[in-house]
Amino acid sequence: MSLFQTKPLAKILADSAGDHAMRRTLTASNLVALGIGAIIGAGLFSLTGLAAANHAGPAVAVSMVVAAIGCAFAGLCYSEFACMIPVAGSAYTYAYTTLGEWIAWIIGWDLILEYAVGAATVSISWSGYLVSLLGDFGIYLPAQFVAGPFEPVRLPDGQMVTGIINLPAVLIVLLISGILILGIRESARTNNIIVVVKLLVVLLFIGIGWMFIKPENYTPFIPENTGVFGDFGLSGIFRGAGIIFFAYIGFDAVSTAAQEAKNPQRDMPIGIIGSLAICTVLYVLFSVVLTGMVPYTDLGVSAPVAVAVDQTPYPWLKLLVKFGILAGFTSVMLVMLLGQSRVFYSMSRDGLVPKIFSEIHPKYRTPWKSNLLFFLFLAPLSGFLPISVVGEMTSIGTLFAFVIVCAGVLVMRRTQPDTPRPFRTPWVPLIPIMGILWNAWMMYSLGEDNWLRLIGWLVLGQIIYFAYSRKRSLLRRDA
Ligand code: ALA
Repeated sequence: MSLFQTKPLAKILADSAGDHAMRRTLTASNLVALGIGAIIGAGLFSLTGLAAANHAGPAVAVSMVVAAIGCAFAGLCYSEFACMIPVAGSAYTYAYTTLGEWIAWIIGWDLILEYAVGAATVSISWSGYLVSLLGDFGIYLPAQFVAGPFEPVRLPDGQMVTGIINLPAVLIVLLISGILILGIRESARTNNIIVVVKLLVVLLFIGIGWMFIKPENYTPFIPENTGVFGDFGLSGIFRGAGIIFFAYIGFDAVSTAAQEAKNPQRDMPIGIIGSLAICTVLYVLFSVVLTGMVPYTDLGVSAPVAVAVDQTPYPWLKLLVKFGILAGFTSVMLVMLLGQSRVFYSMSRDGLVPKIFSEIHPKYRTPWKSNLLFFLFLAPLSGFLPISVVGEMTSIGTLFAFVIVCAGVLVMRRTQPDTPRPFRTPWVPLIPIMGILWNAWMMYSLGEDNWLRLIGWLVLGQIIYFAYSRKRSLLRRDA
């Protein structure tokens, strides 16, 4: 059987319709809220500062637009799939029906970077904001336990430290994993509340921060390139876009809820494109305000919003914003780790990863062993690695998934032209091709180190596929 054996669409739909059918309760506005809940997080509140300080300067607002354009192309392609194949496995399942098992494996393996490593990134940022908030109350945790050993972190009292382990980051991942195991799935209502809080924080920051902009901070708007590709100048804007892209990740998670949507055919595109559009507008305004309030050179910290809010005379604003951010991050981590266990659940049921990933707890009805194993995988990432490394790994991994989803639309239009498509990506092949090129270009701009890490990760995946998964694939066995 060939590496490119596909799983028939009819079989996927039939599998999902059986005893695993989920209840269809989510409306269009629930889906938009779900998207915003997953999107606004560490990317906006931490990486915007790093991208401005190290790569784009005030032009990070342009990086925001560049990243959003790539996401819009991918979002349109995701929408076509999510309507046509409204099941939970997202990109992994789309690839299995269009490009075959081998590519599906690559995507499933790659999605660990998006979901699990993404959650680790958010946890490190969460820790930064927690330390900062506690500092406001005069509580100082021991420096060696709030930072990993590889990157210095600025404490609330201004000192730069490298630590031993980032304990708050590990603990929040443990807490989120625990919640997932107990099965307190984010209900649409809880998510709506968190989303309102997050939106309020962002709007408040934009509205109040606007009054504290110092126009001189915008000069130079595009700092001169240092001679190194990606360090300021035009290439810096693209490198910044590659990093800031992380802030947009999550709109694709809407597609994993396709099986729970009341009317996926109509509402999936609304959820995916709607949440993306709202966040794009907010992000551009947010970065204009942030780089206007603080010189971009001072933003290279893990809690840049705290630095900006310190410029205002409103102590209550500082506390409110930090509380909002801490609460807001939890929904991002929940959605990501939930997405992670769903993808591995699907892969496990297809035989590509061990059964342990689809074993359901008799009482809580959750894939608890999977959650536990992923916690063990995540803890060292959260505890020891610098946020820039895990953040960029997440971005390059997700961009890679987007490229494949865009390619999948092209393939599916050729191989299955007659399958009903309630939503059709406009201007095919232009949009998918632009999606491939744009996102590949952003991957390129992420630089050599990240490519090497991505390649290393994929090679590891190949070893596992050929040593284990290929032999145990149920599709192969049936064939
Ligand atoms: N977009 C999500 C965040 O910024 C992953 O945290």
